[in-house]
Amino acid sequence: MPDETLTVRDNRTGTEVEIPISDGTIHATDLRQLGLMSYDPAFLNTASTRSGITYIDGDAGILRYRGYPIEQLAEHASFLETAWLLFEGELPTREQLETWEEEVRVHTYVHTNVMQFLDGFRHDAHPMGMLLGAVAALSTFYPDAKEIGDVESRRLQRLRLIAKFPTIAAWVFRHSRGLPYVFPRNDLDYIGNFVNMTFEIGGRHDPNPVLQRALEILLVLHADHEQNASTNAVRGVGSTQVDPFSAVSAGIAALYGPLHGGANEAVLRMLDEVGTVERVPEFIESVKAGHGRLMGFGHRVYKSYDPRAKLIKRVADDVFAQTGLNPKLEIALELERIALEDDYFVSRKLYPNVDFYSGLIYQAMGYPTDYFTVLFALGRLPGWLAQWEEMLSDPEQRIARPRQIYTGPGEREFVPLASR
Ligand code: CMC
Repeated sequence: MPDETLTVRDNRTGTEVEIPISDGTIHATDLRQLGLMSYDPAFLNTASTRSGITYIDGDAGILRYRGYPIEQLAEHASFLETAWLLFEGELPTREQLETWEEEVRVHTYVHTNVMQFLDGFRHDAHPMGMLLGAVAALSTFYPDAKEIGDVESRRLQRLRLIAKFPTIAAWVFRHSRGLPYVFPRNDLDYIGNFVNMTFEIGGRHDPNPVLQRALEILLVLHADHEQNASTNAVRGVGSTQVDPFSAVSAGIAALYGPLHGGANEAVLRMLDEVGTVERVPEFIESVKAGHGRLMGFGHRVYKSYDPRAKLIKRVADDVFAQTGLNPKLEIALELERIALEDDYFVSRKLYPNVDFYSGLIYQAMGYPTDYFTVLFALGRLPGWLAQWEEMLSDPEQRIARPRQIYTGPGEREFVPLASR
């Protein structure tokens, strides 16, 4: 028995058991000795895994990938460098990074049949619906992806996903616009290639390095966030030992929801609904009265300012210096100012999260509102894959299968249709 323990007394029977505490946590299965389960809908106080990838201190507003503060990564690291860090646990050497960039570059093409099924979507299909369908379909092109017990195969699928995701994401964008698909170019870097595949027309696109670096920083800020809803979906579905394309598409589905990645889209719709700075106090009152939420505010883990939102505000300044101010910024700033002074939000520790300002930036870059969550997915992909790999290598993990408290009827006799 370790030094730190918890004594639990069952007052129904007087039975006492001593349960080990490690890392400030007890094992829920230790309660079985008393015939008890733990009940925790929505996992408010349950750790589902040990993880060495991302550290968050929600009270202090701290976020680190593999120990490196997000502020330093946002300033210095490229997106592919960050992805390598998440996968390998260490920053790459120059040689490792160059090899990794080259490997990604030569895997960016996707089978042209993918174009045909993207063509099958209606012109107004939601980009997230198209993305999750197309990524799931990729598993049918790579039957070897089923070999999830083979480390080398896992590495190859990870590379394929990182390399092909921007191509599919860009084609989803082109489909929405009715534009021909643009193929990847080997002379461009990861971000430059993605931006070119979305915006090139007639062989022309003048890249703006400030906007491209801003997009890269946003992707770095989104790259992982420990056990968030979509990562939990990837781990949960991946725990059935399905291939990673299918597991990642489950993550995309979870991200699509307005309480998760869909919030950046919802923020923009909310700003449109508010319409003018003068209407902000009225809108805040309606939220307090329970008519909807202030989208882009609040977080399960952060009970102070989301460190990513702070960094995004700085990125917004750089972007708007290039594109001109997004007129909705004024409304967002006023919403934040009033909310941060209002007892309803202060007492519940509701602060702007990553989604509050990101949509304004994406819009200034030329991306339509319903495309914002695709950009979030592009950023989160390395995190999903790093967590998937960690889950598969963890001997404590098995198929994720929660228990329930049954609340339905007891046994009863079947009543034939004629007698009902
Ligand atoms: N506006 C108004 N009230 C809120 C909000 C909000 N955005 N968020 C939470 N509350 C209230 C909520 O009504 C509850 O009040 P009460 O105690 O009186 O019932 C209290 O604050 C606690 O909220 P909760 O829903 O129990 O908290 P949660 O941890 O289950 O939910 C959340 C976290 C992010 C889903 C929630 O804050 C929310 O819905 N925010 C708006 C959507 C959003 O911005 N999502 C993006 C999250 S960050 C990026 C990402 O993960 O994708």
